[in-house]
Amino acid sequence: MAVYVVTGGAGFIGSHIVEELLRRGENVKVVDNFSTGKRQNVQVFNSKAEIIEADIADAKNLAEFLQGADYVIHQAAIPSVPKSILDPLKSHHANVNGTLNLLLASRDAGVKRLVYASSSSLYGDSPTLPKHEGMMPNPLSPYGAQKLFGEMYCRVFTKAYGLETVSLRYFNVFGPRQDSTSQYSGVLALFIPAVLQGRRPTIYGDGLQSRDFTYVQNVVEANLLACQLPGVAGQVFNIACGDRITVNSMLHHITKIMVNDIAPVYAESRAGDIKHSQADITRAKEHLGYEPKISFEEGLRHTIEWYRAHL
Ligand SMILES: NC(=O)c1ccc[n+]([C@@H]2O[C@H](COP(=O)([O-])OP(=O)(O)OC[C@H]3O[C@@H](n4cnc5c(N)ncnc54)[C@H](O)[C@@H]3O)[C@@H](O)[C@H]2O)c1
Repeated sequence: MAVYVVTGGAGFIGSHIVEELLRRGENVKVVDNFSTGKRQNVQVFNSKAEIIEADIADAKNLAEFLQGADYVIHQAAIPSVPKSILDPLKSHHANVNGTLNLLLASRDAGVKRLVYASSSSLYGDSPTLPKHEGMMPNPLSPYGAQKLFGEMYCRVFTKAYGLETVSLRYFNVFGPRQDSTSQYSGVLALFIPAVLQGRRPTIYGDGLQSRDFTYVQNVVEANLLACQLPGVAGQVFNIACGDRITVNSMLHHITKIMVNDIAPVYAESRAGDIKHSQADITRAKEHLGYEPKISFEEGLRHTIEWYRAHL
């Protein structure tokens, strides 16, 4: 049995990673400051994971907490493009200083490998599709720049200190437990509750923007592969489905499944938002053995069921 530390484990993606690790019988510790993470997300762990309430950017005793850990799966961040535009210093502190502090603590505690949650937002709006890892990053928001910094620090820690790191660039993750209560929530987490409650969802722009929507369980699988596979230290991988769907068409899928033909409201597009996003996942398939086993349709059905039961 290995010891895993999941930062941001009370959040959407982190809580799914913790749940899967516990299902596999691993030892799990969580570090979270509950800024966007939720107490009810932690309840699904049934007290089987140790929870430390701390801020990774400010905690002085992180290395102590990481003693004995084999793997660190780093999800903690302020994960929002609009929030980073409104308050770049605050999101820099969590996303860059927090990552650096955690890398130092992982190095000092002798952690075997740290897996980092990066983001497709660092590709920016280049017209090349699909996006592949060899492309020049071109972030359009402080959040995208911060995620790129995080990746660079990960690679440097592998080169300079021999701490194994792997960065996973997620593309629009969705699924149960994604926060639906903030204007900054992911688009599916806003649309599904709106349609369920008979409210018209707001689409920013013409709705022809497209995304590579990825069900959360695929991302969990990628993290666990990235912890274990040899020969991938210091590398970066796209994690997605390798497909893309427009926001209009995504809403159409939701309304079809729910048999509720509600029309959206269109509003002006938001600063920092990119037009199209689609991943080339060849590298993750070849080097990590990653396969997006759960399709967009299937993931959408699970997610709708979850919101139906929990709203
Ligand atoms: N959801 C997506 O589509 C997506 C896409 C690309 C990348 N990511 C990345 O995946 C990771 C997880 O995102 P999520 O969607 O689950 O978001 P989330 O907001 O649900 O989870 C983030 C968690 O980190 C915690 N946190 C934030 N700052 C912290 C700090 N300074 N110290 C300790 N804990 C802190 C929050 O309380 C929360 O529990 C983030 O790093 C995000 O940038 C997410």
